[in-house]
Amino acid sequence: MSRTRGSWAPDASTLEKANAVMKAAADSGDLYRNGLGMIASENIVSPMVQKIVASDLHGRYAEGLPGKRYYQGCDDFDTIESIGIDLAKSVFNAPFANIQSTSGTVSNIGALKALAKPGDKITAVSTADGGHISHARMGAVGLRDLNLSTYPWNEERMEPDVDGACALIREIEPKVALIGQSVFLFPTPLREIADAAHEVGAKVMYDGAHVLGLIAGGVFQDPLREGADVMTGSSHKTFPGPQGGFLLSSSEDPVFQKRLNNAIFPGVCSSYHLHHVAGKVIALAEFEEYGAAYAEDIVANAKHFAASLAAEGFDVLAESRGYTGSHQVLTRHGSKDSGAGTKAARLLEDAGIITNMNMLPGDTKAMTPSGLRLGVQELTRVGMGLREMEEVAKLYARVLIQGEDPTMVKKDVNALKADHQTIRYCFNEDEQTGYPF
Ligand SMILES: Cc1ncc(COP(=O)(O)O)c(C=O)c1O
Repeated sequence: MSRTRGSWAPDASTLEKANAVMKAAADSGDLYRNGLGMIASENIVSPMVQKIVASDLHGRYAEGLPGKRYYQGCDDFDTIESIGIDLAKSVFNAPFANIQSTSGTVSNIGALKALAKPGDKITAVSTADGGHISHARMGAVGLRDLNLSTYPWNEERMEPDVDGACALIREIEPKVALIGQSVFLFPTPLREIADAAHEVGAKVMYDGAHVLGLIAGGVFQDPLREGADVMTGSSHKTFPGPQGGFLLSSSEDPVFQKRLNNAIFPGVCSSYHLHHVAGKVIALAEFEEYGAAYAEDIVANAKHFAASLAAEGFDVLAESRGYTGSHQVLTRHGSKDSGAGTKAARLLEDAGIITNMNMLPGDTKAMTPSGLRLGVQELTRVGMGLREMEEVAKLYARVLIQGEDPTMVKKDVNALKADHQTIRYCFNEDEQTGYPF
């Protein structure tokens, strides 16, 4: 309907939709404020990051690199991005850093654009073994039309079978040897695989989306010094920034660095969401200060949570390796493909504990897997420690082993969370107004 400019009141049904969105966002905030967020790919952002993400930068453009822009009005953003590039180089100990990409997936698409041509060969971990969809034909690998071969997998150790992976690389001679998973319990034995890759002229790309904060905190592995030429990652998982991505490299070669920068802009981004980039820069500054302690606490909590779950009677994977060396813990709740993981995730949600079902070795169906993938990075960020990990394991047991009504358990979940409303490992910790709305 056409109306006179400035004179109309909004149609009630349209406003209703907008209000429904506002309410749903507030309800989602409440869910996480009062419950336990345990999805391994999520985190909560600091008050300073929350503030800058809501700034005017949200509506602005800055194509190019600091000092070389296609628009006017970028001087202040040049300051932000320049500080950010320097901080990223320092935090990730990388000679090259691009902080523009809008997600881990976009970083991967960009990296694959820089490293391979359509029709080239690539090796990676299969999605069934925990590889990410962007490493598969259905995702970025297919988008670039790469010819994928997957590594054999060592189920006992929950990592690629190193001898098999090296043999595969030597046999097929890929352009890119991609390492890293979404199910990422232990550091990958990278040196041997990287040596095999370099021997046949392949570039080594390490996807650190999940474990980037642990790598930067010095508690996982150091891919850029273990043979990775390029490291990609998300800025919002164990690295506790706003949603976005990083593209990092161990290369000092300006020609290769230019190729990487070009792969992000103009390769896969035009506007690259300046408010999120600024948020990443604040998160990098906070990480420089508090990141090592945060990373150390995450891994200590994950190990203790896994052991506490096992003590409660849960089947926790990788017992022989101490369950985990990352932020993740895997639990099996029934037989393969039984959907027991799906059911467990729903029951936990009823108790205010947010997790995700996950395929475990032997599962073949993504919607009816036997397991859960759990992450402790968000609980750690709001100050939970070893004692709380034991408490959380007991809450799991009440729902999933003792069969207590989840809505009754939820009261204790909410009570535990009420004591953990301050976001830690960040600036201005004492001046917080608490969780995002
Ligand atoms: C290994 C891996 N790579 C890439 C991604 C994609 O990251 P994003 O969600 O930031 O696109 C994920 C997401 O969980 C992941 O697990």
